[in-house]
Amino acid sequence: MGKAIEIAPGIFWVGVEDWHRRVFDALIPLPYGTSYNSYLVVGGEKVALIDTVNPGFEQELLEKVERIVEVERIDYVIMNHAEPDHAGGVPTILSRAKNAKLVATRKGVEMAEAFYGVAAERTVPVREGDTLDLVGKSLTFVEAPWLHWPETMFTFCRETGVLFPCDFFGSHLASSRLFDDEVGDILLPEAKRYYAEIMMPFSRFVAMALDKIKGMDIGMIAPSHGPIYRNPRRIIDAYERWARGPLERKALIIYVSMWGNTEMLAKTIADAISSEGVEAVPYDVLKADLSHIARDLVDASAIVMGSPTLLAGIHPLVGLAVSLVRGLRPRAKLAAIFGSHGWAGGAVDQMEGLLRQAGLEVVDTLKVRGRPSREDLERAVNLGKLVAQKVKETAIETNS
Ligand code: FEO
Repeated sequence: MGKAIEIAPGIFWVGVEDWHRRVFDALIPLPYGTSYNSYLVVGGEKVALIDTVNPGFEQELLEKVERIVEVERIDYVIMNHAEPDHAGGVPTILSRAKNAKLVATRKGVEMAEAFYGVAAERTVPVREGDTLDLVGKSLTFVEAPWLHWPETMFTFCRETGVLFPCDFFGSHLASSRLFDDEVGDILLPEAKRYYAEIMMPFSRFVAMALDKIKGMDIGMIAPSHGPIYRNPRRIIDAYERWARGPLERKALIIYVSMWGNTEMLAKTIADAISSEGVEAVPYDVLKADLSHIARDLVDASAIVMGSPTLLAGIHPLVGLAVSLVRGLRPRAKLAAIFGSHGWAGGAVDQMEGLLRQAGLEVVDTLKVRGRPSREDLERAVNLGKLVAQKVKETAIETNS
């Protein structure tokens, strides 16, 4: 979209679509690209730009701003978040708008200096509840640490009811349609995939932020990635579910197999879990999209991990999945582990140690030498049934 779009009186979307980006954090696939939403707020006397764009898109941002006001007229650049996909355009804007001040939290100001060389005299540090008067419109700042970095904040325009939460409520979805109700069914699954990687590690802070915004009269949520929510409840309710709603009766079986032996165990375990009325979702990490595993971790109740022993330890691909589980800090606390080895084992013990360290309760382990025997497969069935039983018990505790 080459134009600036007025989303509320005096508030313009001046962001860009990055249709062709295919990976984020050098890790997460972006099948639908992403967007870097920037917003121009034009008050009676002052003009503010909320967040900028990823490096390489500055010219497009400048052209869109120029359709509304001269760039030199910008008085404030509101930096909700210092990560380069939103603040990468800050140096360009500040070099053109010579009188503009950068507004951020105290930590944000430090990061602006470290990342973008912004001089202290060009910054305005703000705290929770501080308000900037643009005349006829005001911007109030809400501290929102760890959503996504320690310096992050939200900005709220009380007169229009528009909340600008930057990464929070975002999704990696480039679209020529700007609003949530225009995008269709793809939106919430993509928002959940995004939530899994960016927000799930900080679910305690997500809950705090959800509580904080409860008292605000929000009519529209304008994040800095993906569509704008004209129906804010749609994404607020989804975040409530993902951050603190009941977990699903669902177990993930995450594994890899070199000669089919660990896979035989995985299939047997998955069938046993499923036969008990608990959803079993197998992921062979050789073929799986890590972001799909992450998305399922948002509301799974149990994590079952399987690895053959390779190089005296966990197969590296499963090791990556273990790192993902440890780093993303899903709410599931139940785990079980299995694997086949040729001579000396090692993978199962290593996985058990790593998952216990991460606070998971390992309810069962299964080590098999070579091809699983009938007895080994019976043990796999028992492991699966135990996991299913624990999932059902957890669901009952959660609902009682
Ligand atoms: Fe979209 Fe944390 O940056």
